[in-house]
Amino acid sequence: MSLTQFSGGRASTVHTSLPKVTMPALAEMKRQGKPISALTAYDYASARIVDEAGIDLVLVGDSLAMVVLGYETTLPVTVDEMLHHTRAVRRGVSRALVVADMPFGSYHASVHEAVANAARFLKEGGAEAVKIEGPRTELVRALTGAEIPVVGHLGLTPQSVHRMGGYRVQARTADAVRRLRADARALAQAGAGALVLEGISREAAEAITAELEIPTIGIGAGPGCDGQILVFHDLIGLTFAPAAKFVRRYADASALIRSAVEHYREDVEHRTFPSDAESYHLPGAARRSLQMEFDEGEIDEYGAMVNQDALEEWEEFTHS
Ligand code: KIV
Repeated sequence: MSLTQFSGGRASTVHTSLPKVTMPALAEMKRQGKPISALTAYDYASARIVDEAGIDLVLVGDSLAMVVLGYETTLPVTVDEMLHHTRAVRRGVSRALVVADMPFGSYHASVHEAVANAARFLKEGGAEAVKIEGPRTELVRALTGAEIPVVGHLGLTPQSVHRMGGYRVQARTADAVRRLRADARALAQAGAGALVLEGISREAAEAITAELEIPTIGIGAGPGCDGQILVFHDLIGLTFAPAAKFVRRYADASALIRSAVEHYREDVEHRTFPSDAESYHLPGAARRSLQMEFDEGEIDEYGAMVNQDALEEWEEFTHS
């Protein structure tokens, strides 16, 4: 049993003072020229922090396969694993729009199966939209027809790593940019509510952003998109490989966590953790009763600490 509790008051004023973000609200933000902040999250604690910090869109990205589960690509993660994390994120978020990534293989075999899998993210995961990679207009139409809001994803689509021959910047020729623009328009016409643009030139991203009514959310696509998204672990520096050019690290969580864990280990090894103040004490009556049975030396050690606080602390512990 852990006595540590996650629940409690919400920390941020940003969070409580802003209205719930919905899919139509994202389009409205674009119309009003308000930048959309987006970030991935994969568990309750990080999702709650991200939400309380006022981020507009939380993506349960399939990048969790790499940054949380330690796989080399995003391909192995399953629908059930994504659902498990989506539910945890859902519990931590109250304001941001929660979008779940559909994992590789879950929307590729047939439109029928894709709609059924996508519905699980709303029904069982509590997501408010799903994200799919690639120019799949027929699928976007079917999903929106089934009342499942869709975020598209074009450019560097990590689930296509083997086709692309690695994680490379995409649409590097004029023709490729024309195709990308056509794909973006087609996804918007098919009903996508927003579009992630990853790993493309800022020029291409700006052109697409200018001609779409739906918001674009960039990652490695320059500053001209309607919003930006990063992987949570990249932003806080909790990764083990050199960061990509587009990543801005706002913290060094690896160093922070490593140092905390090393200090804890040292304290255990030197027997300086836990201290007496971090220990529970018997209430006075029990202590006095046991005094008859203990050696005097043992009792003296604790004698000075028998007080009302100790009694309340003990009762709290035994009732928890
Ligand atoms: O899985 C993911 O984290 C993503 C974002 C990087 C857009 O798809």
